[in-house]
Amino acid sequence: MERLRVVGGASLRGSVHVSGAKNSSLKLMAATLLAEGRSSLLDVPAITDVEYMSELLSRLGAEVSRQGTTVTVDVPEKVAHEAPYELVRRLRASICVLGPLLARCGAADVALPGGDAIGSRGLDMHIAGLERLGAHVEVQHGYVVARAPGGLKGAMIGLDFPSVGATENILMAAVLADGETVLDNVAREPEIIDICEMLTNMGAKIDGAGTSTLRVQGVDRLRPVQHTTVPDRIVAGTWAVAALMTRGDVTVTNGRAEHLELVLDKLMAAGAVVETHGQGGFRVAMSGRPRAIDVVTLPYPGFPTDLQPMVVALNALADGTAMITENVYEARFMFVNELARLGADVRIDGHHAVVRGRETLSGAPVIATDIRAGAGLVLAGLVAEGETLVSAVHHIDRGYPDFVGQLNQLGADVTREPDPDRFDD
Ligand code: UD1
Repeated sequence: MERLRVVGGASLRGSVHVSGAKNSSLKLMAATLLAEGRSSLLDVPAITDVEYMSELLSRLGAEVSRQGTTVTVDVPEKVAHEAPYELVRRLRASICVLGPLLARCGAADVALPGGDAIGSRGLDMHIAGLERLGAHVEVQHGYVVARAPGGLKGAMIGLDFPSVGATENILMAAVLADGETVLDNVAREPEIIDICEMLTNMGAKIDGAGTSTLRVQGVDRLRPVQHTTVPDRIVAGTWAVAALMTRGDVTVTNGRAEHLELVLDKLMAAGAVVETHGQGGFRVAMSGRPRAIDVVTLPYPGFPTDLQPMVVALNALADGTAMITENVYEARFMFVNELARLGADVRIDGHHAVVRGRETLSGAPVIATDIRAGAGLVLAGLVAEGETLVSAVHHIDRGYPDFVGQLNQLGADVTREPDPDRFDD
């Protein structure tokens, strides 16, 4: 086990590059299963979740290799259809092989991912959607067991909530179904547009990417593809908040300001200067103490739940009191108990957090409970007096390629070291 030693006080300055999105790469990797042959994904981040997904695809019979930032997946004619628990439990996103396996093999046995530190991750909409496409789906012995021996048939499907995962799974099944599928109230995240683009280049017929309704005309087969992953808006947003909190001046290259419109607006309301450079990225500069900002998390284009821990950390030091409302994951405020160890004044009431800004935070040992909470704690450590030790750094490694290297390149003082106090999580 390792931890990060964060010395507070540095102001982040310079330029930082954002890689392809974790939340896209994992789904794009699953989508390669839809076509026999060799697909190449460019700008795939070097994070442990990608390694786990590679292992899962290998277990299903694909050959996966990485050269630099390109991941190549060679998919055989016949793929296995079981995603075992020992792999799925490490990577909840592996549930997204369900749709592709069902479409390709007419069968899928995918372990249920189980509990999560940020809240329950239901699968009811994934299952209901696949059933509408004609599959028989049951949960047996901890597995989602789906069968469609005669193939899938297009259908009208309305989601109760614009779930990213359910949209992806149903879409990946529908592209190879017989006839038309109309999928309503779908997610509109940039990662959904990304997968629609990739599937379209594989030969799928999809209309409406980025809107609430997707129309899919099923095709008999897809072909392999080369595709560049959309940049990671959550990593880009993390750098933006870090620049603001440390009263720094950071240019985020390959960050797409248009995917962070609301986030950057909020940071301007807190006092930051934001300059956008088109596809080239954006710059965030800040002097003085931030003003408190209220935030409500919602599906895209709302404020992303994945940046909620960072804005709680920001408000912990802001001038004023902020109300943060979490609408996507009910347990996502758990990390504030760790933030309180740094002196933050946060009161939770259901899915609201009231954060009273303080003049200073003070460094202490804390534990990262998930990827984004981990990043939020590191940001708090950057502005706390003295040293903050962030344990369970493997969570951060799941989503931030070379986080420590990039922080130090911007002038932070962060080191990675063995954690003598922790042997597991
Ligand atoms: C969510 C985020 C996404 C982010 C990702 C990674 C939203 C809407 N989604 O996507 O932007 O990139 O986390 O952290 O902000 N749900 C059900 N039944 C289902 C499917 C989902 O009840 O069948 C519930 C979940 O429990 C959760 C909510 O819907 O409360 C969001 O689910 P979903 O969008 O599918 O989650 P992710 O795909 O993980």
